[in-house]
Amino acid sequence: MKLRPTLTLRGVEIHKGILDAPEQAAMRDALSDVVRAAPLFRPEMRRGQKMSVRMTSAGRLGWVSDRRGYRYEPRHPAGMDWPPIPDCVLAVWRAVTGSERAPDSCLVNYYDADARMGLHQDRDEADFSWPVVSISLGDDALFRIGSVEKGGKTESIWLSSGDVAVLGGPARLVHHGIDRIRAGSSSLLARGGRINVTLRVAG
Ligand code: SIN
Ligand code: MN
Repeated sequence: MKLRPTLTLRGVEIHKGILDAPEQAAMRDALSDVVRAAPLFRPEMRRGQKMSVRMTSAGRLGWVSDRRGYRYEPRHPAGMDWPPIPDCVLAVWRAVTGSERAPDSCLVNYYDADARMGLHQDRDEADFSWPVVSISLGDDALFRIGSVEKGGKTESIWLSSGDVAVLGGPARLVHHGIDRIRAGSSSLLARGGRINVTLRVAG
């Protein structure tokens, strides 16, 4: 893992190319074990419409969404415990946060060519003094960043496989989302698409 000078966009720190190709492949394989133990599911939003991303989690707590709302749960919707967070993922958290306190939640999002994620804030956690660390693998994604307040100006940046974004400090609660994926831009995933991993101290 190589920490290079970071780029900052609207307060979000972006570490381009922090994971090299073998590290990306190792993380992909570790995440496919996570998905085997806790299969991807397509969450429902509050009004019943399905999200376009599929997701699962690792760690003590996993993020779920259904008609009852958004929250962290100690088990997968099918009833099994979430698998442990892979060591290679925890190493990224330590490298970019410098913290020995491990995250307790690792959300794994899978985007196929048509998936996207609307602008939102990550605000289901108990303590916003911890950052959110987000790792990109596979196809490029157009990441949009707004403000803490709703509405107003936004700016976008393409995230590529091996990039890591950190939402912390004054940018911890900025609105963010994924407008689209550039299908076929990476050969990391056999079936194409993009994996995003977000690490959080949830509760
Ligand atoms: C998220 O906000 O949960 C995902 C962001 C991303 O896919 O990069
Ligand atoms: Mn988010």
